[in-house]
Amino acid sequence: MARKFLGIDIGTGGTRAVLIDENGRVLGSATAEHKPISAPHRGWAEQQPDDWWAAACKAVPACLVNAKATADEVESVGLTGQMHGLVMLDADGKVLRPALIWCDQRTGEECREITAKIGAKRLIELTANPALTGFTLPKIWWVQKHEPEIWKRVKKIMLPKDYVRYRLTGAHAIDVADASGTLILDVVNRRWSKEMMAASGLAEEMLPNVLESQEVSGKISADGAAASGLNVGVPVVAGAGDQAAGAVGMGIVRPGAVSATIGTSGVVFAATASPEFDPQGRIHTFCHAVPKRWHVMGVTQAAGFSLRWFRDQFGVEGGVGDEVSRDAYDRLQDEASHAPAGSDGVLWAPYLMGERTPHLDPNARAALVGLSSTHTRAHVVRAILEGVAYSLRDTLSIFADLKLPVESIRLGGGGARGGLWRQIQADVYGMPVDIVEAEEGPAYGAALLAGVGVGAWKTVDDACDAAVRVASRVQPNAASVAVMNKQYAAYRRLYPALREVYVGAA
Ligand code: XUL
Repeated sequence: MARKFLGIDIGTGGTRAVLIDENGRVLGSATAEHKPISAPHRGWAEQQPDDWWAAACKAVPACLVNAKATADEVESVGLTGQMHGLVMLDADGKVLRPALIWCDQRTGEECREITAKIGAKRLIELTANPALTGFTLPKIWWVQKHEPEIWKRVKKIMLPKDYVRYRLTGAHAIDVADASGTLILDVVNRRWSKEMMAASGLAEEMLPNVLESQEVSGKISADGAAASGLNVGVPVVAGAGDQAAGAVGMGIVRPGAVSATIGTSGVVFAATASPEFDPQGRIHTFCHAVPKRWHVMGVTQAAGFSLRWFRDQFGVEGGVGDEVSRDAYDRLQDEASHAPAGSDGVLWAPYLMGERTPHLDPNARAALVGLSSTHTRAHVVRAILEGVAYSLRDTLSIFADLKLPVESIRLGGGGARGGLWRQIQADVYGMPVDIVEAEEGPAYGAALLAGVGVGAWKTVDDACDAAVRVASRVQPNAASVAVMNKQYAAYRRLYPALREVYVGAA
């Protein structure tokens, strides 16, 4: 019987479980939704860790049913999930307050304080990254300052997927990739930074044990088995944060391999042989889920979200019968295909939720520029698809500045599903783009890591070589590339000009 490995992804909207076999074939999957993000104040974003645990305990048995498999067949488990979140437990292992998650923006002041205390240059030397509002350490500083009664009772700190690990196994552990997004990890040496801990009043016992992604972190406990339906004693590997696990799932493990993923946010991700830094801190430098490898990534805050925002605010052109039931995003892309490459000069700056790469400006605002009376809805929708691709190209431009090789680009997320958005990406990046066969996201990468952890494949590279296959390639269209290059040059001038407008704006 084929060996089987389970990946569990604690996402933001829901938890997804995927069961694969030793050929990388997906045998079944299931998703259980989370409660919506709670935002008690503007800019806050919180979720209840026990809601993730409940969703995992629903998704895992449902996945096994869909895969027509039993718990006895699951040889190992890999975890992945939303990065950067802060979960705090007391001496009895109870959650002390809702988790502050990745998109929580309350910590602007703490970021400035951390940078002032450590020094901007020293911070990069110690952690490879600048202090950003989404990262975990500024959240810890916020709790220390604003909720000292809670902070006094904190015995353990962990990230979202590691809470699920804790409930499954009792182990307090994390992988190097997810730990990189805390601003406490010495990313170069792949261990907690003593200097960052000392500067933040953190004792080592509070932090999870740091492991490489394929290492076994613990085994399913009796309590974990009773709640999840998995068997006692099944090994659980460390896994990885969602971006690194997603990259493994797309085979982005060797230097030169790059992915462009358009989900709610957009991420351009490159595997590197050593830690590579952008002196301006515009891209993140994190450990990869592969020993002795790192990765860099640039993040567009509102990528797929730009199209969702348009759909929610302005709707989809009316259709009847079958048309109405067709996916709204497909219909928007059909509509956009009536406008030419370059959208006859209309430009979309996708800064609906501020921007990370390249501007690091939470106050940036979106704009639709260049409209004339001849433009139609089709031009606007196409401009949105193109604007998101220009924004991802900004990260590729930084890679070029840093002389990072880009040998091929694989597309992931919703942006890989529509034919038009694929073509736009090939034309904007000026390179062929590949689509992989099992476009299953981070849970798939976590399942591959689970297989490596029990020796089904010797290395993560071997797992990717055996399991990840390119299904199709989209070639850039030379005429469109020329138009897109011109438009991209105009797009680059947008932010500095718009900034003049935001400054002083409420
Ligand atoms: C990565 C990031 C997101 C979250 C949520 O830096 O913020 O990918 O992990 O998915």
